[in-house]
Amino acid sequence: MNLSSEIARTAFQARISGVGSYLPTITLTNSDLERMVDTSNEWILERTGIQKRHVCPSSETTSDLALRAAQAALSKAQLSPQDLDAIIVATVTPDQPLPSTACFLQAKLGCRQIMAFDVVAACSGFLYSMNIAHDFIRAGTYRHILVVGAETLTRMVNYQDRQSCILFGDGAGAVVISKTQSSESSSCIMSSQSVSSGAFTDILQVSAGASRFPVTIERLEARQNLIEMQGREVFKSAVQFLRDTCLEALNKAGLTVEDVDWFLIHQANLRIIEAVAKQLKIPIEKIPSNIREVGNTSSASIPILMSEKIEDGTLQRGQVILMAAFGAGLTSAATILRY
Ligand code: COA
Repeated sequence: MNLSSEIARTAFQARISGVGSYLPTITLTNSDLERMVDTSNEWILERTGIQKRHVCPSSETTSDLALRAAQAALSKAQLSPQDLDAIIVATVTPDQPLPSTACFLQAKLGCRQIMAFDVVAACSGFLYSMNIAHDFIRAGTYRHILVVGAETLTRMVNYQDRQSCILFGDGAGAVVISKTQSSESSSCIMSSQSVSSGAFTDILQVSAGASRFPVTIERLEARQNLIEMQGREVFKSAVQFLRDTCLEALNKAGLTVEDVDWFLIHQANLRIIEAVAKQLKIPIEKIPSNIREVGNTSSASIPILMSEKIEDGTLQRGQVILMAAFGAGLTSAATILRY
């Protein structure tokens, strides 16, 4: 297996030095949803693979979830908040429109004055952020970057829309990405790919609440401040975007599907994951999933899954992992690393 020449020629590599996650204890089951909208446990399980999601208590915000995931990742990396050189938070459910959730997190962690900013790329946000961090590390700019995916999506879900309200849950996942010297055998990020297509902005959106459609009573009453989704369109595009982004990342790394030990795919819908597996001829046993217990946590989805699969011993140091996501935008991203 060869690293691509693009990666091999840089002096510094980026490796994951710690991973952590946090899920609120309150849960919303399919049975709970049966009492809220016209749906059934069987329908939801069959069409999505989801049985329950976690819900952030009303006393907490996205940065509170991010804090717990970040503390767990820092502990695994054996680093303190003072060691961090930058914080990137991927979220579409920030604490406030202004300032960034990364700044709230920075204050809660008690970091030095360092760069901290949010990335808005919906469910691809965590991998976009990883890919940005990867480039900062390779350029030699920073030593340790905290990358967090954190969401309180249940605050943005329309619980009168049975098609979309069944999908989303809250949670946070975090990784510390650290600088290391180039080596073909050591743990490192091998290739990254981030793309978007603005031709699909209307199929998954929250339309009201910013400059295009400022909040008005009428728009709130029409629930335009909540998630609107064209499910079938999103499904079709998701499969296509995921397939193409995975192939591009594999190509950049000079790898094939067979070279990858584990595929961590955004937990949006089990049927989307199965369709991608079929198209790319990935054995389904190589695609761990926690969607049944967690639902779609947008940018938090991949780092939560990664953290859980490290904890239960599935993911081991030295293995090759491909992570891939898609989301509103449409955005799509993939990262391949040797863990
Ligand atoms: N319970 C029961 N019936 C439901 C339902 C629910 N929760 N939601 C929709 N239905 C109904 C529809 O009204 C429709 O009924 P009709 O045939 O009488 O009109 C029927 O089920 C089929 O609807 P359809 O939208 O075609 O279902 P689907 O198989 O596409 O499944 C989704 C709907 C949302 C599960 C699916 O489209 C999906 O997962 N899309 C991707 C969404 C996603 O991943 N978003 C996040 C991206 S990051």
